[in-house]
Amino acid sequence: MDYIFILGTHPAWSVAEIAAVLGESDLYWENERILIKKDAEIAAENLIKRLGGTLKIAQIEAFVSADIPFPKLAKQCAELLLKKAARGDGKLVFGLSDQGVGGRFAADKLGLNIKKELKNFNISSRLVTSQEKELSSVVVGQNKLLNRGAELIFFRHDQDLFIARTLAIQPYKDLSRRDFGRPSRDDYSGMLPLKLARMMINCAAPRSFSDILLDPFCGSGTIVTEAMLMGYRQIIGTDLSEKAIKNSRANAEWVRELYGLDIYPKFHIKNATRLAQFLKPKTVGTIVSEPYLGPQRGLDNIEAVKAELQTLYSQALDNFYQILSPGGRVVMVWPVFFGREFLKPALDKWKPINALPEKFSHIPWVKLSYRDTLLYHRAGQRVWRELIILEK
Ligand SMILES: C[S@@+](CC[C@H](N)C(=O)[O-])C[C@H]1O[C@@H](n2cnc3c(N)ncnc32)[C@H](O)[C@@H]1O
Repeated sequence: MDYIFILGTHPAWSVAEIAAVLGESDLYWENERILIKKDAEIAAENLIKRLGGTLKIAQIEAFVSADIPFPKLAKQCAELLLKKAARGDGKLVFGLSDQGVGGRFAADKLGLNIKKELKNFNISSRLVTSQEKELSSVVVGQNKLLNRGAELIFFRHDQDLFIARTLAIQPYKDLSRRDFGRPSRDDYSGMLPLKLARMMINCAAPRSFSDILLDPFCGSGTIVTEAMLMGYRQIIGTDLSEKAIKNSRANAEWVRELYGLDIYPKFHIKNATRLAQFLKPKTVGTIVSEPYLGPQRGLDNIEAVKAELQTLYSQALDNFYQILSPGGRVVMVWPVFFGREFLKPALDKWKPINALPEKFSHIPWVKLSYRDTLLYHRAGQRVWRELIILEK
């Protein structure tokens, strides 16, 4: 079967993550928002819970000529819904998402035609619409489209119009419950977005769920708690700050109770630049971390901040090298100031890994940094994040 992934706000990160989890073969980047996986058997519900950067997973059901007359397309969609849509007690509820089909395609008009067709089959239905051309995961979830009907996604490939049926949506409620409900926050030091934490963990491609996963700048424990939920069993969080360790402990306990997990991460107050004195050589499988990114305010003297961070990261990386097992990976986000000032700590012993497979790095809509790394930023942010993957 062929599937599509509807990608999140940072599509290249999403693609890197999917490639790390599923392998890059049979992946085709269709347009900025859609990645296709061919010839696969995918457990969509489970997979979307693991990924941070995918909004929807859908199965490709059919393709037709892009100039197919509307009535004919409506009939085909109605037949598809009859065959594949979920059925609850009441009306069949369906929605249509236009993923950049273009031309004279109008999802609303098509929806009304499909309703009429369904009526011909004695099926009463409700069409869910939204202001946007694409239904958000929230709209799909709130209207229970996947339990009471279906969402069909349309996209164009050359002269064909593809029709996909959504199988799973990102668990947005759960994500926001964790984001806003966690008992301990540190908005001053900053907390990593949960989805970004997941993408980083997945990009680390840990070899086994029972290897040790370490976050040596764990802050409030975002990476630790997401790793707990992703099934990692041996997790260590360390941080220089006593308050951070207290926050991490409280958040991990909250997640453990909320989800009934039997996973007990270990936390220690430790300086990342002296970790090799505490952890035995070659015992850690993977390191995933958002380190100290520099002062929150006062970026007047960029050169001084860069020099300070380069020293910190070089010393920390030297320690990471000692405690990592051979072939183990470090995944970090480093700051890029104003989108142009990159850090250059000492990396002599490390093998840098490109997060995005080579086959995707020359696609017109992909914007990598001058050193082929992925960048993450939101409008107006002064400090961007750069994804760094290093292998021992
Ligand atoms: C950007 S915060 C990490 C936030 C974390 N990713 C989260 O989502 O909560 C950076 C953390 O690095 C810690 N830190 C700074 N210097 C350190 C050092 N030398 N060793 C260990 N931790 C350090 C700070 O106390 C802070 O908690």
